[in-house]
Amino acid sequence: MGKRIGVVGSNMVDLVTYIDRMPAAGETLAAPAFAMGHGGKGANQGVAAAKLGGEVVMVSRVGDDLFGGGTIRNFEALGIDARHVRAVPGTQSGVAPIFVDPAGENRILIVKGANERLLPEDVEAAAEELKTCGLILLQLEIPLETIYHTIAWAARQGIEVLLNPAPAVPELDVERILDATFLVPNQTELTILTGMPADTRQQAEAAARTLVARGVRQVIVTLGAEGALLVSAEGPAVHVPSVPVKPHDTSGAGDAFIGAFAQHYVANRDVLAALRWGTRYAADSITRPGTQSAFADAEGFARFCAAVDKQAG
Ligand code: RIB
Ligand code: NA
Repeated sequence: MGKRIGVVGSNMVDLVTYIDRMPAAGETLAAPAFAMGHGGKGANQGVAAAKLGGEVVMVSRVGDDLFGGGTIRNFEALGIDARHVRAVPGTQSGVAPIFVDPAGENRILIVKGANERLLPEDVEAAAEELKTCGLILLQLEIPLETIYHTIAWAARQGIEVLLNPAPAVPELDVERILDATFLVPNQTELTILTGMPADTRQQAEAAARTLVARGVRQVIVTLGAEGALLVSAEGPAVHVPSVPVKPHDTSGAGDAFIGAFAQHYVANRDVLAALRWGTRYAADSITRPGTQSAFADAEGFARFCAAVDKQAG
């Protein structure tokens, strides 16, 4: 099994505005702070893995605008193989206006732009690089046809796939994703996928079980401050608690979790250890503003883990 991590996914420029409250219609309101950073679920997950030392192959599309070149340079600066991150003429790069309230909760709009132009043939064109990967990460900020195509292609190659069904797309066809090794929704996405409540851990488990009954192999439900829940056909659900931190900005926390999970998993093939690693990495990330800008490198994460272990005694 290859040890590299492939990402067939999105990139966005995050336009993060820190607000006291949302303005009403027709109202103009001053907000305390603004920050621009690299984001997008696919890019975030790849960057988290790369920052922890994972070898990442990125397949993505940018616009032929101001943001495109900067996005490619950001990947390259992190050592990510960005040969298949290309500009689509006549398009705009994806952007995400994000509003973060004083409690650290985020509201995100996405304008997908060039991400909508990442097509099955682009995955074929990147086949040589993707074949070197032991796990491919997918999210739902690119066309569904590209998702289905990548899952089918990877299955033929014997490459594992992790699908993060985010943001939730109600028309996702579960029958066409059954070859994925991992499906990683949050509670909201799980509800949209199943039509069942998933507010409590018990509800989330019951909802995830219905996906397993339909043939999904392993469902990992991210539970925010409560950590993560692994549900599969083998045995009872496993709950991995998170570590308590004071949230500053939770945007990108799910991506931090998945990137770290992927990096650990391809290196060790130990799902539970990778889940513990991912929940910790996500917890650390919410203590800082922004998405990629909040992701620790291996050294910073080691310090966080040492502090957590010391506190636990
Ligand atoms: O998951 C967080 C990400 O969602 C942000 O970086 C934003 O770009 C949106 O894609
Ligand atoms: Na953050």
